[in-house]
Amino acid sequence: MSTENFLGEIKKIPGLRENVPLSNYTTFKVGGPAKFFLEGNDPVIIQKAVKLALMAKLPFSALGGGSNVLVSDKGFPGLIIKLKSEKCVLKSADKIQADAGTSLAKVIQFAFNKKLFGLEFAVGIPGSFGGAVAGNAGTSGHGIAEFVENLIYLDKQGNLRTCEKPQLDVSYRYTRFKYTPDEIIISAVLKLPKLSAEESKAAVKDALAKRSWQPKGAWCAGCVFKNPANNHAGRLIDQAGLKGKKIGGAEISQAHGNFIVNSGTATAEDIVILISYIKQQIRDKFGVQLEEEVRYLGF
Ligand code: EPU
Repeated sequence: MSTENFLGEIKKIPGLRENVPLSNYTTFKVGGPAKFFLEGNDPVIIQKAVKLALMAKLPFSALGGGSNVLVSDKGFPGLIIKLKSEKCVLKSADKIQADAGTSLAKVIQFAFNKKLFGLEFAVGIPGSFGGAVAGNAGTSGHGIAEFVENLIYLDKQGNLRTCEKPQLDVSYRYTRFKYTPDEIIISAVLKLPKLSAEESKAAVKDALAKRSWQPKGAWCAGCVFKNPANNHAGRLIDQAGLKGKKIGGAEISQAHGNFIVNSGTATAEDIVILISYIKQQIRDKFGVQLEEEVRYLGF
């Protein structure tokens, strides 16, 4: 079959859409269209789509909740697989398994309902479970990937595989899946620690208090930069007097220096220019090289 024929086969996948604006699927509310767009969490359908994309020589990428990603204004010239599900089940007394496309909030709530604690630190973090696992989302002290026992994913060739905890390569805001959106996490099992309901309540209160001064309801992607060793990106940006700095419709939040907010008219390019301006200023003023926590897609 020719490339054209494979493209034709992709278009026949149930639910597949064409030219879908990704700005509707990112919390920055920026990003151009995906050539092809498929929503769901069924490994069989996703595998078929990935295999066809490979044969059609079409790039493909997973997209979770879109809360930690910057999509280019040109969009994505291939297939976006937007993980979407509601599935979360109890595996055993201290383990839960959830689809990658389930929201992180739902996974946390499910665990709490089963009297399984340990995820308090992640209360209030937006996005999908799979995206949170891939980027080891968390607060300064903890990341969700610490609790992953194993996960199921599609490798770059579209083969279903299992990754056990030791192979996940977990570190601060990082796992081996962070920069490989063509390896698609399908589901993961979390093993949760023993914690009392009282300890859990106190930890939720603490997590919410820590987040209380972050901008609320804003079009943003949380913290843009990772914290450098022994410091806080937000504090450095604040100390450099950069809060409120604007490029086009992108603005450094007045509430927290590590947040860039789309004031309504920002393009991805505005945000990219602002990011590079911040990095240059922080390098010049403090000799610190900031690194993005947000992921880039379509650049
Ligand atoms: N600070 C300032 N000015 C600012 C921002 C912060 O002086 O504009 C100072 C604060 O006064 C505080 C210190 O910097 O002394 C740390 O601030 P904060 O408690 O907000 O923590 P953070 O290191 O900036 C981290 C995570 C957040 C998480 C919070 C709360 C990173 C990159 N960020 O922020 O995660 O919500 O702790 O637990 O690790 C995210 O990853 O998207 C995110 C928002």
